[in-house]
Amino acid sequence: MKAIVYTQYGPPGVLHLREVERPEPKDDQVLVRVHAASANALDYRRFEKLSIMGRLMEERFIKSVGKVLGADIAGVVEAVGASVKQFQPGDEVFGVTAGSKGGFAEYACAAEDHLALKPSNLSFEAAAAVPVAGLTALQGLRDKGQIQPGQKVLIYGASGGVGTFAVQIAKSFGAEVTAVCSTQNLEMAHSIGADRVIDYTKEDFTKNGQRYDLIFAVNGYHPLSAYQRALNPQGNYVCAGGALSQIFQALLLGSWLSRKKGKKMGFMGIAKTNQKDLALMGELLESGKVSPVIERYYPLSEVAEAIRYLAGGHVKGKVVITVGNLSN
Ligand SMILES: NC(=O)c1ccc[n+]([C@@H]2O[C@H](COP(=O)([O-])OP(=O)(O)OC[C@H]3O[C@@H](n4cnc5c(N)ncnc54)[C@H](OP(=O)(O)O)[C@@H]3O)[C@@H](O)[C@H]2O)c1
Repeated sequence: MKAIVYTQYGPPGVLHLREVERPEPKDDQVLVRVHAASANALDYRRFEKLSIMGRLMEERFIKSVGKVLGADIAGVVEAVGASVKQFQPGDEVFGVTAGSKGGFAEYACAAEDHLALKPSNLSFEAAAAVPVAGLTALQGLRDKGQIQPGQKVLIYGASGGVGTFAVQIAKSFGAEVTAVCSTQNLEMAHSIGADRVIDYTKEDFTKNGQRYDLIFAVNGYHPLSAYQRALNPQGNYVCAGGALSQIFQALLLGSWLSRKKGKKMGFMGIAKTNQKDLALMGELLESGKVSPVIERYYPLSEVAEAIRYLAGGHVKGKVVITVGNLSN
C-alpha cells in the first residue's frame, strides 16, 4: 500500500510517499481502508525545531522514524481481528489509529473501541476532521469544564481545529458563547454559532471588565492571573493547549491558584479516545448541531505540505488529507 513514511528526524520534508506492507490487525483491532485523514498538532509538534531534549524524547520514547504518522481517520472496514464484535467489513467508520499513528496511508489499524460508525450524512473527509480535535473540545468543556446550560463560556483560540468544535459543542450544551480569534476569522466564528466574537488583535478580553463562568483556552497565551481576573467568583478555567508557557502555568500553578482563590484552574490533560465520546460526536454531527470546519484538502502525496501549513498556526478549522478521490 501507499503511505507517508517519516524517514528521518527533521522538518516535514522528511515525509515521503512510499510503498510499504499493509498492516495486519491484532485480535482487538480493525483494519480500515482509509478514505480521509486529518492532521493535528500532535502530527507537527515533532517537526518543530528539534532541541536536544526533543530529539532524545523522539529517539527514546516516541520512536517515529520509519513509521507512518496520522491519528485521525475515516474509511471503510476491510478486515477485523478475531475478538472484534462490533464491526464487520464494509462498515463506514471514523476514529483514531492504533498508537495515534498510521493514518496517512491507504490502510490503517485502529482498536475496536477507538472507532465509531460514521454518520451516513457525513462525508469521509468531514468525519476524518473530527476525532482528536472534537474529543478534545468535548472532554475539555464537559469533563474538566463541567459546562452547564446558560453559562457564559469564552473560547480563546476559537478558529482552529479544537476551537471550532469547542464553539459548536458549547452551544449544543446551551451555553452563551464568546469566541476569541483574529480579524480574518470573526465572520466564521459567528457563522458556527458564537453569540459574541472578540478580535484578539484589537481587544484584550482579560481587560475589558467582562466575566465568564468557563474559559476554555485552546491557543495563544495569557498569564494565569489574567484568566483568573476574567472569571466569575465560582468560575472555571480549562487549558487545552496554546503556547507552552500557557500549558506549563496551568499545569504547575493551576491547582495552587484554585485553592487560594476558589476558582478552578488547570490543564485538561490529554484527551482520551473512547467509543462513547466518538459516538456522541457522531450524534452531534448527524443532527447538524456540530459541523466540521475544513479550510484545505491535500492529497496523500502532499502530507508534508499540509503539515507545513498547519504548523504555521493559522489554520481555519482543520486540514484534511484525502486518500483516493474527494467524496464530496
Ligand atoms: N489536550 C489535548 O489533548 C489536546 C488535543 C489536541 C490539541 N491540543 C492543543 O491545543 C492547541 C490547539 O490545537 P488546534 O488543533 O486547535 O490547533 P490549530 O488548529 O493549529 O490552531 C490554529 C488556530 O489558532 C489560532 N491562533 C493562533 N494564535 C493565536 C492567538 N495568539 N490567540 C488566539 N488564537 C490564536 C489561529 O487563529 P488566527 O489565525 O485567527 O490567529 C488558528 O485558527 C494546540 O496547542 C494543541 O497542541 C491539545
